[in-house]
Amino acid sequence: MAENYIAINWNAIEDQIDKATWEKLTEQFWLDTRIPVSNDLDDWRSLTKDEQWVVGHVFGGLTLLDTLQSQDGMRSLMDNIRTQQERAVLNNIQFMESVHAKSYSTIFSTLNTPSEIDEIFDWTNSNEHLQYKANRINDIYQTGSPLEKKIASVFLETFLFYSGFFTPLYYLGNNKLTNVAEIIKLIIRDESVHGTYIGYKFQLGFNELPQDEQDKLKDWMYDLVYDLYSNEEGYTNDLYAKTDWTEEVLTFLRYNANKALMNLGQDPLFPDTAADVNPIVMNGISTSTANHDFFSQVGNGYRLGEVEAMSDDDYKFD
Ligand SMILES: [Fe+2]
Ligand SMILES: [Fe+2]
Repeated sequence: MAENYIAINWNAIEDQIDKATWEKLTEQFWLDTRIPVSNDLDDWRSLTKDEQWVVGHVFGGLTLLDTLQSQDGMRSLMDNIRTQQERAVLNNIQFMESVHAKSYSTIFSTLNTPSEIDEIFDWTNSNEHLQYKANRINDIYQTGSPLEKKIASVFLETFLFYSGFFTPLYYLGNNKLTNVAEIIKLIIRDESVHGTYIGYKFQLGFNELPQDEQDKLKDWMYDLVYDLYSNEEGYTNDLYAKTDWTEEVLTFLRYNANKALMNLGQDPLFPDTAADVNPIVMNGISTSTANHDFFSQVGNGYRLGEVEAMSDDDYKFD
């Protein structure tokens, strides 16, 4: 006789963070198809060819990372859950990763020609640094320990995405491509919750380890962040070669690497703070995601829930 199959009981919550996260994520549910990206076509046509190239390939790279999260990332985390509610939260996250991955295609189909889209996907599926990043993280998902998998997921979502997020935030800070940026801000809002939640689950397991194992894992984690950062320098050079933004993107990346380490309960590594990041990008990130123009553009048929840009301080668990 097999063991009894246990029904999930939301009236007997083992960890209140599971319930709070479920509620937050379901409240902020959204779909790409409800954002009027075509309203950005005038802005798009005003960009130079080089600027259009950067935007398209930024979103190619982000598509790959969200594909990884939706196909392998959350599935690998599901192998090592502490509660049944944690599994439910990961189910929600996994679906939203598919929404994220699809949303870039909504942007492509509005702004790019079919041959441009083909070229973007060819580049994405073969760029050396982008492939290194995806495969480095996926190897950990496939063969890492439960805690290593959580580190990989938090590094991917709170750190590695930001070489791409820089571009739409920069344009938003300049009041351009605001509907495209609306999608990106909804993604960033989701990732902020994902990174905090998975970081919290990591800390529960990490704190149970004896000191020597904690030290060993810490060394592994900092080696990984260095390795990923040095690859990200190469990726940023590839992606931003046609601009003079490379140094600013790297500053933004180091700032977000620190945030990823903090989600994991660790000390920041780099000296960079919010004050070092280009204020135009910080301006973009702090803009409320739902603006009045946005409401008037979408009309009465759909009302986006009350949407606030999230900072890490907005989502403290204690
Ligand atoms: Fe995502
Ligand atoms: Fe995520």
